[in-house]
Amino acid sequence: MSTFQAPIGTHDVLAPKSALWEGLIATFAQFSFQYGFTLALTPMFEEIGVFNRGIGEHSDVATKEMYVFQDRGERTYALRPEGTASVVRAFIQHQPTTPYKAWYVTPAFRYERPQAGRYRQHHQLGVEAIGTDDPAMDVEVIALAWRFYQALGLTRVRLLINSMGHDECRGRYVEVLRGHLEEHREELCDEHQKTWSQNPLRVLDCKRESCVRVVNDGPLLPDFLCADCAAHFDSVRNGLDALGIDSTLEPRLVRGFDYYTRTTFEFVAEALGSAQNAIGGGGRYDGLSEQLGGKPASGIGFGSGIERLLLAREAEGITSNLINRTIDIFVVDTTGRDNATVVVDELRRHGYAAERSFDSRSMKSQMKLADRSGAAIALLIGPQEAEADEITIRDLRSDDFERAQQRIAREDLLLTLRQHLNK
Ligand code: HAM
Repeated sequence: MSTFQAPIGTHDVLAPKSALWEGLIATFAQFSFQYGFTLALTPMFEEIGVFNRGIGEHSDVATKEMYVFQDRGERTYALRPEGTASVVRAFIQHQPTTPYKAWYVTPAFRYERPQAGRYRQHHQLGVEAIGTDDPAMDVEVIALAWRFYQALGLTRVRLLINSMGHDECRGRYVEVLRGHLEEHREELCDEHQKTWSQNPLRVLDCKRESCVRVVNDGPLLPDFLCADCAAHFDSVRNGLDALGIDSTLEPRLVRGFDYYTRTTFEFVAEALGSAQNAIGGGGRYDGLSEQLGGKPASGIGFGSGIERLLLAREAEGITSNLINRTIDIFVVDTTGRDNATVVVDELRRHGYAAERSFDSRSMKSQMKLADRSGAAIALLIGPQEAEADEITIRDLRSDDFERAQQRIAREDLLLTLRQHLNK
């Protein structure tokens, strides 16, 4: 019988790599806390309308990539392709005080053609701040992402930024863009020759050379901003300058979802080359609450792919972990009784990370496990030690066999470990 594999475009994450994930998530949780964001957990699936209305029926994600299913009650649901629409749906449902600042870590599902850095299940760290259109919040959200990337050790990240304006200025732009695309429709890629008129902004996202050429000759969004939107955008850019965060204006950056208004941005990891190099992206969505049936509430947020962050670190040659996941002590017990059980319990109660072996292995085999565990210290309990109520403590990092090993009274164990491990 054939064995099962993880589905195409998905990955298992096991140790030691999973320790890098822990480090990333713990660091992001700490940053979110420092910036005043609280954890939000929402269901992995929602009524399909949450995404269709939220990210836009004509977006690539909604038309081609969503995992849609019917449950046994014949309700139509979709696995979440992104985090924002669900958080806004929860905001409308629970009406927390504003500004409501939430962070999340979640898998996201998109039926895309898998390749390096692009998966059918990826994982996002993100934040959403709902209930204010103050440009200072845009700056805060972008700064959180930027400082987080710095903390990960990334140095080759570029921040691209644009403003899509509000409904009216964007509407005026879209009309002019529509005229331009109509004029050049035969030069567009095959797909956009058919779909350009449904949502002309999607053509700006197209990476195919033919569309890029048409778009490059076309009108630019920032030229269509009304005075309010232009002032909002200036404030955001000035705020970023004040924090020493460099941003590059990218007037064609519209991003793939329909909910975006005003500020949009993307973080590009230059070490990743040109394909799948966006390690994060986000923007304002001042109309999304209403689109989902709620009261008007402006919002802004960003999401960052964990897999891509790790690829970017790798590409920059960063190997350090952000969290210590090596154990302190390995207990080797050859008495055949429950000494190891009691000792590891005591150590763990005192804050040490301790491991032991199972299945009554030989001394040699247990020592091998101790070496492999990465622990700094092994505690050896054989029949002699047990009889004398003692314990042998061995420094696994020392080559000097004589000095590395010391026999102590059982009752002095914690004191001796404190001296050895400095904790
Ligand atoms: P997004 O740009 O679609 O935005 O995704 C955010 C990040 O998730 C991307 O920059 C990338 O790092 C990662 N990502 C996206 N798709 C994949 C994939 N198929 N495989 C691997 N990584 C991927 C959003 O999802 C918005 N919800 C962001 C946002 C939050 N806007 C406002 N608030």
